[in-house]
Amino acid sequence: MDYQDFCTIPITELGERLLTEENLLREIIAHPQSEPAQAVLKAADRLRALTVGEEVHLRGLIEFSNYCRGNCNYCGLRRDNRQAFRYRLTQEEILAAATLGARLGYRTVVLQSGEDPAFTGEGLAEIIKEIKKLGLVVTLSVGERPRRDYELWREAGAERYLIRHETADPLLYARLHPGRSLKERLDCVQILKDLDYQVGMGFMVGLPGQTPATLVEDLRLIRRVNAEMVGIGPYIPHPETPLAGCPGGTMEQTVLMVALARLVLPHALIPATTALGSINPKGREAALQAGANVVMPNLTPTQYRTAYEIYPNKICTGEEAGECRRCITGRIVALGRRVSDGPGHNSEWLKRRGRGEVVGSSGAI
Ligand code: 5AD
Ligand code: SF4
Ligand code: FES
Repeated sequence: MDYQDFCTIPITELGERLLTEENLLREIIAHPQSEPAQAVLKAADRLRALTVGEEVHLRGLIEFSNYCRGNCNYCGLRRDNRQAFRYRLTQEEILAAATLGARLGYRTVVLQSGEDPAFTGEGLAEIIKEIKKLGLVVTLSVGERPRRDYELWREAGAERYLIRHETADPLLYARLHPGRSLKERLDCVQILKDLDYQVGMGFMVGLPGQTPATLVEDLRLIRRVNAEMVGIGPYIPHPETPLAGCPGGTMEQTVLMVALARLVLPHALIPATTALGSINPKGREAALQAGANVVMPNLTPTQYRTAYEIYPNKICTGEEAGECRRCITGRIVALGRRVSDGPGHNSEWLKRRGRGEVVGSSGAI
């Protein structure tokens, strides 16, 4: 396939075709400013309009603990960062944030934390049950846990789980995550799929040691797993980590990967990430115009926001929840899009459930 063929291939098939043309795909990824890369952005925007439409789904993000037993070499919350001020919200504070979210019109809250064992399987299940009483959809993003915990939380009513694979290269993964393996991460993904969660995978762009070939593998992996959601953000160096001196990813590279994710997973929920908005004031808008259809404004009580410092210069740390809600609506409307008032589930997941099928029990990833 040549890039001229882009116009003749139906956009619904473009992603699959690109995955069969490894060299062309690597060239495109290596040159985000090139003409073919620009054609990918346009195609992804058209495909997004066709498959998931003009609505943008909002998820209110509650960062409820920044304690973490993980030690990821890129992350400011890593265990060995003794400079970080650590906090944990009480159950009451979490429920108050969720209540405020419901009042502001959010249909989903995302409960995100470091890997904090202080929140037990049972303890978090209680919190999920209380939040469900508010009529909200619950997305979890709390890292690797035993199968039993994932079961308890699904039974308590959580419908979605974000667990980025970070990079599909097993060697790079091992170098970035001391004492951990990509296999363990993908085992968690498989369990979550088996439990019928909508599963969010994803990766960082611009990681030290990452190449265009690695990013092609990231696309193959999210396609193979059939991830319902895909979060893609630039790597941003944090001064209190071993990777402090490494350069970060760019907006152009990241937006191109968002577009390619849309092409390989036409129905996925794809956020315009906060990290992208943090490296460029128009970063989230650029993603929304290249395949993204979700935004995750912050609902964390303001006094804790600066402490949830995964990377430096994070946006929305000074604003109140209501301000973020208004700000993001204005940005979405300015793009000619509209804020969804529905629950914003993945349409294929809904269809499978309608047929009574459980998703991932079909075999190993
Ligand atoms: N830059 C950008 N993203 C980061 N994450 C962690 N550290 C960084 C960083 N320095 C991302 C990871 C993780 C998510 C919660 O935040 O992808 O899964
Ligand atoms: Fe902990 Fe997640 Fe940061 Fe890793 S990326 S150190 S698991 S908060
Ligand atoms: Fe938080 Fe704009 S979304 S200030």
